Amino acid sequence: MSVFSSLPLAPRDPVLGMTEAFLADPAPAKINLGVGVYQDEDGRVPVLDAVRQAQARLADDPRPYGYLPISGLPAYDEAVKRLIFGASGDLVAQGRVVTVQALGGTGGLRIGAGLLALVDPKAQVLVSDPTWENHQTLFQRAGFAVGTYRYLDAAARRIDVDGMVEDLGRAAAGSIVVLHACCHNPTGYDLAPADWDKVVAVCGQRDLVPFLDLAYQGFSQGIVEDADAVTKFALAGRPFLVASSFSKSFSLYGERVGAISCLTADADQSERVLSQAKVVVRALYSNPPTNGARLVATVLGDRGLRAEWENELTGMRDRVKGMRALLRAGLERAGVPGDLSYITAQTGMFSYSGLSQPQMARLRRDFHVYGLDSGRLCLAALNHGNIEAVVQAIAQVMA
Ligand code: LMR
Repeated sequence: MSVFSSLPLAPRDPVLGMTEAFLADPAPAKINLGVGVYQDEDGRVPVLDAVRQAQARLADDPRPYGYLPISGLPAYDEAVKRLIFGASGDLVAQGRVVTVQALGGTGGLRIGAGLLALVDPKAQVLVSDPTWENHQTLFQRAGFAVGTYRYLDAAARRIDVDGMVEDLGRAAAGSIVVLHACCHNPTGYDLAPADWDKVVAVCGQRDLVPFLDLAYQGFSQGIVEDADAVTKFALAGRPFLVASSFSKSFSLYGERVGAISCLTADADQSERVLSQAKVVVRALYSNPPTNGARLVATVLGDRGLRAEWENELTGMRDRVKGMRALLRAGLERAGVPGDLSYITAQTGMFSYSGLSQPQMARLRRDFHVYGLDSGRLCLAALNHGNIEAVVQAIAQVMA
């Protein structure tokens, strides 16, 4: 008998578990289109030049690795506020934005969930159908009941905006609505600006609590444009939360550098929100790590490095767009029937291919091409060297 005797085996994580399966595959030619990680033309996770220069500056001026404040590196938190709420007028100056450094976007979501559980642990959380699988688990583990709102009309390959607004219109007051600010994960279908207006309006009418997931800022249209949904909610003036991340935009995946930001009613409320966020963080992991936050703060705090970073981010975004076009053209050339324009209509790192779970399993088994069972493919891992193999593999499983 052991304390663990009654513990059942947990299922493999649908995203990171696929990386485990990929790494365990002994095939010499294998392709990982599972996890949302950008790779360059050579199939490597890039170290951005702006980050390299920030690393050099920090190496020239070594600082001790003491504990950071519970809420994170102050210069980092300030830079995040400006990056995310930069187009939202003077809310930051009014002291209405609270930002706390977090362990990636996931950490930001978890701190936000912890905060909201203090407000109303019985509130229902609504996520899009479908959504990033971890949204469900994360909010459930924080004690919430999680339901869905309509999002994807799979047959029409578009967002069911009316269904979404209808579902939100029926949600109980105080429900927490998780929204993908850009680059919807997994579908790649983003709301148009006019659709966002409807969502902002219904959230206000129904007194819902919007919680935006901004993990892919810069991978759809640009740094500012990809925060448009944040700006719309901010200008509406009602409280909401944003979890953000530099994993993708700075290619700093392993540094776990993200944040949670909350728009509050006034500076007094901000002080209380910050104090409670610190209690949540302290009980989870005490205080955050130093290195990633220093790198990001160095780049965002320097005009030259920031411009360089934005150029590099544009380069990553454009490369993924190029791969989208090549994938579509390749599949059309390979005779895959039907309208494939959805591949170039979707945005961000992913394509929701519509392939079934058995087809995804066959892609893995017969062609060593790894995507998620949901049919999600990470196009940010395609390059000129592997795309033809991917085209041939998909064409064969679809034949
Ligand atoms: C993904 O969806 O692939 C990324 O957000 C990585 C993750 O943590 O799941």
